[in-house]
Amino acid sequence: MPDIPAVSRRLLLGGTLATGAVAAGLGSATGAAAATSEAPSPADGAAAPSRRSGQKSMINVPFEPHRTVRVGVIGLGNRGSGMTTGWSVVPGALVTAVCDIRADRAKRSADGLAAAGKPRPAEYGGSEDAYAKMLRRDDIDLVYIATPWEFHYEQGRAALLSGKHVVVELPIATELHELWDLVDTSERTRRNLMLSENCSYGRNELAMLKMAHEGLFGEVTNGHGGYLHDLRELLFSDTYYTDAWRRRWHTRSTASFYAMHGLAPVAAAMDINRGDRMTTLKATATAPKGLADYRERFVPKSHPSWRETYINGDLVSCAIETARGRTIRAEHDVSSPRPYSRINSLAGSRGIFEDYAGTSATGGRIYVEPDHSGHSWRDFDTYLKEFDHWLWKKIGDDAASNGGHGGMDYVLQWRTVQLMRAGLVPDIDVYDSASWCAPVPLSVMSLKKKGRPVDVPDFTRGSWVNLRSGLDSRSTDMPPVS
Ligand SMILES: NC(=O)c1ccc[n+]([C@@H]2O[C@H](COP(=O)([O-])OP(=O)(O)OC[C@H]3O[C@@H](n4cnc5c(N)ncnc54)[C@H](O)[C@@H]3O)[C@@H](O)[C@H]2O)c1
Repeated sequence: MPDIPAVSRRLLLGGTLATGAVAAGLGSATGAAAATSEAPSPADGAAAPSRRSGQKSMINVPFEPHRTVRVGVIGLGNRGSGMTTGWSVVPGALVTAVCDIRADRAKRSADGLAAAGKPRPAEYGGSEDAYAKMLRRDDIDLVYIATPWEFHYEQGRAALLSGKHVVVELPIATELHELWDLVDTSERTRRNLMLSENCSYGRNELAMLKMAHEGLFGEVTNGHGGYLHDLRELLFSDTYYTDAWRRRWHTRSTASFYAMHGLAPVAAAMDINRGDRMTTLKATATAPKGLADYRERFVPKSHPSWRETYINGDLVSCAIETARGRTIRAEHDVSSPRPYSRINSLAGSRGIFEDYAGTSATGGRIYVEPDHSGHSWRDFDTYLKEFDHWLWKKIGDDAASNGGHGGMDYVLQWRTVQLMRAGLVPDIDVYDSASWCAPVPLSVMSLKKKGRPVDVPDFTRGSWVNLRSGLDSRSTDMPPVS
């Protein structure tokens, strides 16, 4: 462990990142653009549309305090049904309504909650617009959306317009104009829209964020994250993704559909939208080989997938530059044989962290000066203990027993309910959500231009220069349940 006391290291380095943007003279969006090699001609949709009269920023806008957070769920498949149970066990939360186009799934979720001793939620289903009927209820404060990607924008927008706050599964939308519209609709309705980015609440990810903000890596210069998950078996299953919706996306475009699980934690550690911003993105894609090869070997010729042509590259990589001259590599691959990884790596002038690479229980490895020398990796374990986020110290045991994905689902749900009950500012706001999802359409645009850079929109409309906290919050209590 450290050769010098941690406190000295923090005195030496702590806060340099926090003051760096200002010290670098990035006092305005214009100034920042001039200080970098941002391409002068904005890509389609990169230029900020004007705000309508009365429309104002949602930055630092707290939730109104709620005694109980009443949740309505749309989409009760693999993800939505598990998360419904998760919402129902957070102190001070109550699932009041559930909706799925398949009415039997709404009934199944309602039955499950009732059997667990919870009040039975109202059921909606049986038609594509059943969710709109659910949104008319006045006993819903938060809508959680876990439908296929093609419905997220329309349903998220409708939820905001119905006066509810919204948590939307990844991605919140797949087109730039939709992302802008969700930002604008949030600003107009004064409701918060948050990406359900559970991996940003992962234990290692939050420790990486704390290490970065406490100066352990010196000046952070680059990060690498992604979503590398061999989904081939699930994509061709007839019982997993409803109507094979996720496989069908691979027939539609060449895009980085789902890199946010790895991109978002790196962006948070770099204070994206909170002192820095993503400015340009360049994409590359490999040939689409994995799905067709899997089908050839494992799927009978009578299967409907044989009528499909897969066009999405197996590995789609995005190289992103920031206004402060940092770089992020964000990757997406769900069609190749490989062990799971979100990469989750951050590096700077004094060291590096890499997840999914260590041999100890945490899975991470680290090398930071002056603690380490000799060019060999060290276990992350002692650093995780030192930099463990307060959320994991406080509710880590509950998360392990209640939540999926190693507990990070429960941490996201507990924290969202806490923020709403206590009337605090969201950790992940509509600007973070839009920025982290922008690589979906931007990768398509860049690939159409043979990998040339395209501009990343500034969804904050210049406010990214202002430093503010987010996932690196201070410890607070859940308001007592009366
Ligand atoms: N954050 C995470 O860790 C995580 C993990 C898994 C999935 N997801 C996301 O969750 C979402 C759902 O994925 P899934 O694996 O549960 O898929 P799924 O196919 O199992 O479930 C989708 C559900 O949506 C329902 N649905 C479809 N159209 C609807 C409509 N118009 N109104 C109401 N319901 C409708 C379907 O009937 C189905 O029950 C996706 O966006 C996926 O990317 C996130």
